[in-house]
Amino acid sequence: MDNVWGSRPGIPADYAGISRTDFWTNTATLMGTERTGPDLTNIGTRQPSLAWNLLHLYQPRALVDKSIMPAYPWLFEIKSELGEKDVEVVVPDAYRKGITGRIVATQEALNLVAYLQSLKQVPLPDGKVPMEFLYKKSEIPVVVSGNTANLPDGKLLYNNNCMSCHQANGEGLKGAFPSLKGSSIVLGDDLELFVNIIMLGYDARPEYAVMNAVGTDNNLTPEEVTAIINHEKTSWGNNAKTVTPEEVKKDNGFYKINIKQITR
Ligand code: HEC
Repeated sequence: MDNVWGSRPGIPADYAGISRTDFWTNTATLMGTERTGPDLTNIGTRQPSLAWNLLHLYQPRALVDKSIMPAYPWLFEIKSELGEKDVEVVVPDAYRKGITGRIVATQEALNLVAYLQSLKQVPLPDGKVPMEFLYKKSEIPVVVSGNTANLPDGKLLYNNNCMSCHQANGEGLKGAFPSLKGSSIVLGDDLELFVNIIMLGYDARPEYAVMNAVGTDNNLTPEEVTAIINHEKTSWGNNAKTVTPEEVKKDNGFYKINIKQITR
């Protein structure tokens, strides 16, 4: 219940359409009392990355250390060379089990990920105000001034928004997600680029997967982005100068962003 899987709590109508199956009975809409994995009703918004989803299907443990989800290696085939339309999955060496060929997604894997990407929580009909979550987003302390001590918890925000790809140790995954430890962008002074990567996503280099518009997708505030940036600038051995929300807001993409332009 502490986890926020969408922009409002789930309701039975999210999971099944009610219709009459015969004169006497309706289809059942049961929420159940327990699920083993996380709620997927909004996974299309929470994790839109193709590269992440394919690697997660191939081997969940490569991305989420203690995941209990089974692996689905049979949704992938091994090829000696990539064909023109082949989508390769970059699997870290520790999980390749001696496979030397290219690991390629089958059409079934691509279809399954396309379905996951389509799962997005629908807004309530016009005029309906969504009910509150158990813990309101507004309860996260907001910054009072440029004082960084009053920022929201950057580590928690990093864990919720960035860790799935860049990993807990900030080192990313070779061939898929770049390391933020020692990254020239994280350590450098180009704050506009840093903020834009978080808010708009990044697809600069072919050797890495695509980063989606994580900040925009998750409605991160300037204070939250500041807290994440400062966490990254000062963790895993990184030791760069921290920034203030005023600097994050100034001269960068924050106020230029038109969410509708983002089509990733
Ligand atoms: C879906 C996976 C994913 C998530 C989630 C994600 N990133 Fe990324 N990130 C990437 C990929 C992939 C790249 C490299 C893109 C490229 O260069 O083509 C990247 C690049 C970066 C870079 C540039 C690093 C460098 O040295 O080039 C920074 C900084 C960054 N991400 C920060 C963040 C922050 C902060 C968050 C959380 C708010 C975050 N990322 C969430 C996948 C992700």
